[in-house]
Amino acid sequence: MKLATKYIHAGAEPDPSTGAIMTPIYQTSTYVQEAPGKNKGYEYARSQNPTRKALEDALAIIENGKYGLAFGSGVAATDAVIKLLNPGDEVICGNDMYGGTYRLFTKVFERFGIKFHYVDMTQIDNIKSVLTNNTRLVWLETPTNPLMNITDIKAVTDLVKGKNILVCVDNTFASPYLQNPLDLGADIVMHSVTKYLAGHSDVIQGSLSMNDKELREKLYFIQKSCGAVPGPMDCFLVLRGIKTLHLRMKAHCENGKIIAHWLRKNKKVGKVYWPGFEDHPNHCIAKNQMRDFGGMLSFTLKDDSVETAMKVLSSTKIFSLAESLGGVESLINHPASMTHASIPRAERIKNGLTDSLIRLSVGIEDAEDLIFDLKQAIG
Ligand SMILES: Cc1ncc(COP(=O)(O)O)c(C=O)c1O
Repeated sequence: MKLATKYIHAGAEPDPSTGAIMTPIYQTSTYVQEAPGKNKGYEYARSQNPTRKALEDALAIIENGKYGLAFGSGVAATDAVIKLLNPGDEVICGNDMYGGTYRLFTKVFERFGIKFHYVDMTQIDNIKSVLTNNTRLVWLETPTNPLMNITDIKAVTDLVKGKNILVCVDNTFASPYLQNPLDLGADIVMHSVTKYLAGHSDVIQGSLSMNDKELREKLYFIQKSCGAVPGPMDCFLVLRGIKTLHLRMKAHCENGKIIAHWLRKNKKVGKVYWPGFEDHPNHCIAKNQMRDFGGMLSFTLKDDSVETAMKVLSSTKIFSLAESLGGVESLINHPASMTHASIPRAERIKNGLTDSLIRLSVGIEDAEDLIFDLKQAIG
């Protein structure tokens, strides 16, 4: 199936009880059983829910996988992956990634004896240099939040093939419309569904998609045992969101490209981080593994002061100053004090995330209006 057909029909079976074309919101905590153990496959809603089941089928299909699992947030999905590990196990991950993931790794899981190596993953040799016999997982975010760095997914999966090391890709920034890591050899794809999949800034949710049945069973066990499941209403909203993913992503990419080029020409703007530029250090890899370059970008100002950045951040009228990304409306964000505040300053600066960096989630409004807004804010 081509992308549009896939997104519109993924997981959508007419409801068996009524034929309803849209999956109903099964707002129930439990299911009546005929006799102990004799039921219709549904026992208790933390373990199974028909609305969630339809969404999980869709999450598998849109990532070209066999299985999908939905979680109460993106962070809960990440948490489930790390719970596959044991004390003493080692994880290799990026030194530029979503601040909440970094916080989960450093503040929660390091306490349980899991060791994380934070490296610049754009260079495969950096990954090689921290591989040990205890490495059990490579956690890969590409493009990264917020510096839009790109890692070669296939090169990473080839590197660890046959070594009993899982590769999990946080595919939030790309969405399945732009990139399908399972096709490149990854074991698990994680999404903050909150973002492009839901697409309308009205849901918090996470997902995992995979091909291996045994891995699915392990993750399902963690999902039901730890209990970070999403409610049926949220699952319904995401099922609806996925149906327009292709239309929204196309518009995000078009606007992202226009704004990236406009920013680059603006005399007050310093550096623009967007993988679609031919001189982006990993442009060729992005071109190879992505279908387009997306609507996320970051930039600095020539006057690299926090004060000027703050003025821009609070002067936009269409771009709303808010955390999150991937909704239809444009957002402007200050990673240092907002999404990435949990990363110690010295660590942030060392990895290139400056105090004045501004991140945009370019929405699908009219590009002319967005440029007009940026122009009046930046000058
Ligand atoms: C790249 C990335 N991964 C994971 C997350 C966490 O997702 P959630 O906020 O749905 O828990 C986010 C949230 O901003 C993100 O940007």
